[in-house]
Amino acid sequence: MATPSQDCDGQIFRDILQDIHLGIVIIDIKKKIITYCNQQAAEIFNLIKLSPDFDSLFPIIDSSVSELLDSETSQKVKTVKKHGERFIGYTFGSPDKSRRFISILLQDITDQKRMDSIAEAVVTMNNVGYIFSGIRHEIGNPLNSIKMAITVLQKNIDRYSPDEIEVYFVRVFEEIARIEQLLKSFKNFNMYEKPQTAVMDLSDFIMHNTQLITAYSSVKDTLIAISVDIEPGSEMVKVDRRALQQVTMNILANAMDAMHDNKEARLAISARSHGPSTLLEIKDTGCGIAAASLHDVFKPFYTTKEKGTGLGLALSKKMLAQMSCSIDIASIEGQGTTVTITIPKARSYETASYKQSL
Ligand SMILES: Nc1ncnc2c1ncn2[C@@H]1O[C@H](COP(=O)(O)OP(=O)(O)OP(=O)(O)O)[C@@H](O)[C@H]1O
Ligand SMILES: [Mg+2]
Repeated sequence: MATPSQDCDGQIFRDILQDIHLGIVIIDIKKKIITYCNQQAAEIFNLIKLSPDFDSLFPIIDSSVSELLDSETSQKVKTVKKHGERFIGYTFGSPDKSRRFISILLQDITDQKRMDSIAEAVVTMNNVGYIFSGIRHEIGNPLNSIKMAITVLQKNIDRYSPDEIEVYFVRVFEEIARIEQLLKSFKNFNMYEKPQTAVMDLSDFIMHNTQLITAYSSVKDTLIAISVDIEPGSEMVKVDRRALQQVTMNILANAMDAMHDNKEARLAISARSHGPSTLLEIKDTGCGIAAASLHDVFKPFYTTKEKGTGLGLALSKKMLAQMSCSIDIASIEGQGTTVTITIPKARSYETASYKQSL
């Protein structure tokens, strides 16, 4: 097959690059000058009122240049908000092995961002109705119970013995505790608005959690056989440890609930590489989820448990999304459930400096 360079002369490529609907800028970082800037890039600079010279561009590219120079990375994607309403998407790359030149691909992504936020708002509005009906239900039920208990007490206070009265008090406190628990969950919803991601060794993390489950399952009298399988090379990830801890605790609690009357309860925790990500899988042999309910499990307040808030998975999904992670659930009713969390792997230079710091 003929390569393009055999059929075209350089002028054709120059013309294409000049007219392409993508801003292209090439910088000589040693001489600190812009060596190439195509038409689209010039238009974007004009739009955001940035003069197309090295000194104006450098504050934007500063950290990316040092990352490119210090590491094996040859490309970096960044989105930077610029000047009021406009969003400019940037990709930095180093086309030259000696790393003298940095290329920047620029796109005005304002419209794309706007469309994304409209789509997000629609989803949010749909969820808000669901959330309000959930709150009405979750707070309404204990309030009704409290009202009933107090009414009965009021009518019978002169006839009831202290022991009988105590029963009603206990009931009222239990219901108040339910409301308090719900309010605590709301607090968690905002707890990790800005998760701090850092390099972490997943095998340490899994071992720690496995010990916790073993201890907990013996307290709860449910014997669970736990297996752990971590593929070498998949363990160094970039994540907020505390947020991931909260997510895995939610998932493990769900697995334990699903297996509570299971004679052969088994939990398989594994980690394996998948391109630039690590897949953390938690598989249980619990009651499973009916196919028709599978798409409801991430909705706030969806629960099949008498004392559940139905916020565990909704919260987990939100926290994970904020750390560039995702979560998927596959399940077969009566057989078990597999939860898969996709976590970005740490880059090799980040892993190296993490290991040095130990
Ligand atoms: N591993 C699992 N096996 C079977 N069903 C599950 C599993 N994980 C989640 N589910 C189903 O999804 C529902 C929602 O889970 P989620 O963690 O959001 O809330 P919850 O566990 O009901 O309440 P909370 O997390 O507040 O205790 C559960 O009620 C259950 O029906
Ligand atoms: Mg739960």
